Amino acid sequence: MPLPDEFLQSVRDSNEITSVMSTYVSLKRAGRDNVCLCPFHSEKTPSCHVYTDTQSFYCFGCGAGGDVITFIRLIENLDYIESVKFLAQRAGIPMPDDERDQSGRIKQRLLEINREAARFYRDVLISEKGEEGRRYLSERRLTENTIRKYGLGYAPDSWDSLKNHMLAKGYGEEELITAALISRSRKGTTYDKFRHRVMFPIIDRRGNIIAFGGRALEAEAQAKYLNSDETPVFHKRSGLFSLNFAKNTKEKFLILCEGYMDVISLNQAGFDNAVATLGTAITPEQARLMRQYCEQVVISYDSDGAGQKATMKAINLLSEAGVDARVLQMSGAKDPDEYVKKYGADGFRMLLSQSGGAISFELRKLTEGLNMDSPEGKSAYLKKAVNLLAEVNNSIDRMVYISDTAKLCSLDSGEIEKAVEARRRSKAYSARLEERRELINPPRNDPKGLGLKPEQKAQRGIIAFLFHSPDMLNKVESRVSEDDFSDEFYRRVFNIAADRIKKGVSVDLSSIGDEFSAQEVGRITGIINENNLLPYQKERLSEYIRVLEKQRDRYGGKKPEEMSNEELLEHMERIRKEKRR
Ligand code: UTP
Ligand code: MN
Repeated sequence: MPLPDEFLQSVRDSNEITSVMSTYVSLKRAGRDNVCLCPFHSEKTPSCHVYTDTQSFYCFGCGAGGDVITFIRLIENLDYIESVKFLAQRAGIPMPDDERDQSGRIKQRLLEINREAARFYRDVLISEKGEEGRRYLSERRLTENTIRKYGLGYAPDSWDSLKNHMLAKGYGEEELITAALISRSRKGTTYDKFRHRVMFPIIDRRGNIIAFGGRALEAEAQAKYLNSDETPVFHKRSGLFSLNFAKNTKEKFLILCEGYMDVISLNQAGFDNAVATLGTAITPEQARLMRQYCEQVVISYDSDGAGQKATMKAINLLSEAGVDARVLQMSGAKDPDEYVKKYGADGFRMLLSQSGGAISFELRKLTEGLNMDSPEGKSAYLKKAVNLLAEVNNSIDRMVYISDTAKLCSLDSGEIEKAVEARRRSKAYSARLEERRELINPPRNDPKGLGLKPEQKAQRGIIAFLFHSPDMLNKVESRVSEDDFSDEFYRRVFNIAADRIKKGVSVDLSSIGDEFSAQEVGRITGIINENNLLPYQKERLSEYIRVLEKQRDRYGGKKPEEMSNEELLEHMERIRKEKRR
């Protein structure tokens, strides 16, 4: 069921693209429009343009582009309908025919199942059968309040207690499998996925229970933590544990931990701004999600080697998302959970206040594997350190780090400063050169630099015309047909656009969104963009049409695959002659 035009129009009108985008990226004015660092690839100079008049964006670096709906699809990792819903909700517009939306219905059902399962696990925990689970949680020093706040539960050591409970409640086996709560064995029987575990419901920012994490009670269990598999409502890559609480924090920063227990312990100690990833390493989606709530994140990973390696990755992803990443340095405990238990909330607060910037962490990492007492070690370190220091744009920060580095190498900071400033000058110079090169020769969404053939330009041009002036369709169709669109993607866009125009429905980036992937919408935006640079005059359209007619004549009105051998030979001879001319 396509969404009605008027509805889409009102969703778009109430979600002005710059106001939506500015909650994710920082926009800078550039003439009539805005630019920003593209949130969809890593870059240092902004190549993502936001056009107010066409209410669209386009990144000249990676080719991402589209209208506000496409932006939400990409940045929130949602499908087309979900993105429209997201924006409708943002603007307080009710969705038409909400219940006819099949996928929405399935998701609603899965959320209901999860809620019931969480209730079951919780009831078991407080029942006689939950004794073992209660003992475990109290050994981990969680209070009843905390257990209730997080809705913790217990999955008994049984193969079918959840299953039987859910079947009795009227849920079917298949949907319980879809919810990833039960699994099917090779013999075809089904069994509870979570057994003999303390259960942590994973709750999204809207308060829905979307999945579970289960902590094994015995140290020797195969997996210490077992997480739900991906389901239509659970995408590990794009959620954060405890964000439902952290999003309301009064603090200006989030604390990023590795484990659920860290987050819960910190919460119990009064740090409601702690979050954790869902059993995976941090992803760009999660970094962007954090950026929506705060500008600063203190990475508080485990103090072991794995945790420190993960810290580097988190620094990179968070910085790319525009977050000020800071790193907590912990000694005397292996993780925040252990630390607050040992040193209390005040101890942890102290650590937080001492957390250093990402640069300090990276500078320290550069010394790894080097003998800093030897001249060779120092010199190898300094070369890398100077490059890193040159990246620090704030001059006060830079001074502080330079002086730290100088102390570390027992050198004069003046000398290091000179080297850093020289490096900065040469970098600024290359950046200016690059900028100038781009002005003369704007980057195209054509990574291989192949350039476009005249027929391709013509096909792209005609598509842009149909988007800009749908009334030109008659003129186009009187002279060319879909067969003249030799590129399959262009042909598809042409057909869909023509179809819509004939039906009298609108042709724009929003309404075609459910027929194309977000990447394809990006390609179409690129096509429209390059044509927007020239006036939409009839003469230009006629020229495009002529190019396609000429191409058809050259092929004798046939596609090469339709020609007989003789025709094909003749055709190739003609092309050879044309080339020689
Ligand atoms: P840790 O093993 O560091 O968690 O794993 P933790 O909180 O210190 O565990 P406790 O204190 O012994 O209970 C950190 C996170 O990595 C994921 C989980 O999300 C966990 O919270 N993990 C870990 C798994 O998904 N599976 C595992 O087997 C282990
Ligand atoms: Mn732990």
